[in-house]
Amino acid sequence: MLDASRRWRRDGKSIGLVPTMGALHEGHMSLVHAARAENDVVVVSVFVNPIQFGPNEDLDRYPRDWARDLKMLEGAQVDAVYRPAADEMYPTDASTRVHVGGVTDGLEGAARPGHFEGVATVVTKLLAAVDPDRAYFGQKDAQQVAVVKRLVRDLDLGAEVRVVPTVREADGLALSSRNVYLSPEERKAAAVISAALREAADIYASGERDPVRLRAHLAARLALEPLVQPEYAELVDAATFQKPGTLAVIAARVGKTRLIDNHDLEKPFPG
Ligand code: PAF
Repeated sequence: MLDASRRWRRDGKSIGLVPTMGALHEGHMSLVHAARAENDVVVVSVFVNPIQFGPNEDLDRYPRDWARDLKMLEGAQVDAVYRPAADEMYPTDASTRVHVGGVTDGLEGAARPGHFEGVATVVTKLLAAVDPDRAYFGQKDAQQVAVVKRLVRDLDLGAEVRVVPTVREADGLALSSRNVYLSPEERKAAAVISAALREAADIYASGERDPVRLRAHLAARLALEPLVQPEYAELVDAATFQKPGTLAVIAARVGKTRLIDNHDLEKPFPG
């Protein structure tokens, strides 16, 4: 991968990297389209990163469909797909992990111990292997975005971090590879997450600024849907993930599936 990247660089070409774990959907493809528009060469990495999954998480059943992924990427004029094997990424004697402090303390970091260390480690390795000018991440994983921005800044990794808006279904549900786990009833119920964010944005637009009341609105809306068990509904600063701020973030279980979503209340909710 690095040899190819060095060749492109020698030829004066700019490189965009879209890191993914496969199971591609239109959310990923919007990252690919953004990379295609802004770079001479587009590289997509497909790697289900084992170290960002906790022991009781869904690593084994995480959806994998390499043939379908490849077809989608071929159709989107991607120049290279980087698909390392797990033992190539993490030889048994690998003993280095990248820890980003502060921004990883709460919310996803608290709910999923070790998750962001796994993300920061793999993103560092992917940036080292591809050496892109720009790397593309989805706004849906807002805390991951904050972690990656901090990582790239603190370690002078050089790539520009580009953030692409969340792609949503018609009823507002954010696209996620994990949506395939939802039963039809759960899928319907899951729309309450984006509905809560939309209503909070409306309330914010009408002048409400009290984070306690805004947070209470999120919680009350989620409580109306018995199939959805909220884990958190908070208002945080988008860069530090400290409270309070104007980024509304939600994590909830719908059946056995854990979903996250967010919206910056200073912007109108899309659609
Ligand atoms: O967002 C993801 O799919 C993953 O966390 C990432 C950035 C590809 C790292 O494994």
